[in-house]
Amino acid sequence: MTTAEGLNDRIRAAADRAVTDVDVDRLPGFMREIDQVALLAMAWALRSHGLFRGGSHTESEIAAATRTADRHRWILRRWLGALSRAGMLWGDGSTFTRLRAVGRRELREAAHGLAASGEGLGYPEAMVAFLRRAFSHLPALLRDDVAVQALLFADGEADTADGAYRENTVNRYVNAAAAEAARWAAEGRPAGAPVRVLEIGAGVGGTTTDLLGALARGPVDYVFTDVSPYFLDLGRERFGGRPGTRFAFLDANDTPLGKGVVDPGTRDLVVAANVLHNAHSVDACLRGVRDLLAPGGLLLCVDTCRELPQILASMQFLMSPREGRPGPGSHDFRAGTDRVFLSRREWEAALRNAGLTPLASAPGPDHPLDAVSVTLFAARRDA
Ligand SMILES: C[S@@+](CC[C@H](N)C(=O)[O-])C[C@H]1O[C@@H](n2cnc3c(N)ncnc32)[C@H](O)[C@@H]1O
Repeated sequence: MTTAEGLNDRIRAAADRAVTDVDVDRLPGFMREIDQVALLAMAWALRSHGLFRGGSHTESEIAAATRTADRHRWILRRWLGALSRAGMLWGDGSTFTRLRAVGRRELREAAHGLAASGEGLGYPEAMVAFLRRAFSHLPALLRDDVAVQALLFADGEADTADGAYRENTVNRYVNAAAAEAARWAAEGRPAGAPVRVLEIGAGVGGTTTDLLGALARGPVDYVFTDVSPYFLDLGRERFGGRPGTRFAFLDANDTPLGKGVVDPGTRDLVVAANVLHNAHSVDACLRGVRDLLAPGGLLLCVDTCRELPQILASMQFLMSPREGRPGPGSHDFRAGTDRVFLSRREWEAALRNAGLTPLASAPGPDHPLDAVSVTLFAARRDA
């Protein structure tokens, strides 16, 4: 078994092997291209309400003119910040005087090039199509007249979600890294003993597929959980045939975490891909994860570490709480900041504070795939 010190090199090498078919050096440029289209789409959405034709506007006036739903007000504020940082919106932070002019035609043409640019980069066409749908529906999304779920599952199938979480290059990379970490954890189990896994927010099962593959040589007790009955059914359909799999409802905000689903101190692995940022308090949630892990057990957490404009103009609409409900981060250090994602440093600090020692991460900060800002953290429960 590799030592904990060697785990970082081991998972990064396995992850690199999973994406040798892609010229990853071109990905940062493609990400910038999508972000630019997302920023144009935000500017177009705001201008389409007759704003910025002379005169200045406060955030409240912009919200009123665009009829932004209360629950999405935080997204509007994030847009104003992103557009200002990109040099497309001018003002003093509270009053905005000028916004870059963007016509429907310019936006259509900019978005049109994305599919071709994504070719050869392992960026699924279904994802490009979804982003284009989201960008062209931004005014209706802000008003809550259209739900982003309707755009994500436009064909009634999970194709776009599969593209977002299973098939694209960065997910192939981080899922391969997670699979290698799972192999490492399995090597530490007594022969014949099942590897005991809890997956939180398993969704379309992008990570599940790779982990079950990595653990195929021995028995598993794999508990696939989610808050969504749709994903639990999809999980049963996709993985129910594998001996040792179980399916259960689990909310990352529950305290104690996992009560009635798994016993405290029993998990060799807790897996959470693209879900923990949703916690009202990541600190409380990570403490709950720590309590579920067996001593020496590993948390494999995949999350986005930077808020890219392309996310702000699409998936971020999934994160607005229902009216009157707490939102992501409302009970931790993110409260009042409108931030959803933690930086790499913040994750590492939060893991440590919860009694979990970060052992490895992938990609590293100097890897081209870091441009996508999705990172796997492997952290061990201290004994
Ligand atoms: C962005 S998807 C990621 C799916 C999957 N882990 C992947 O990366 O392929 C987020 C998933 O977390 C689930 N989810 C959202 N809030 C949650 C919560 N509070 N507790 C548990 N799961 C949650 C959603 O239903 C969804 O399946």
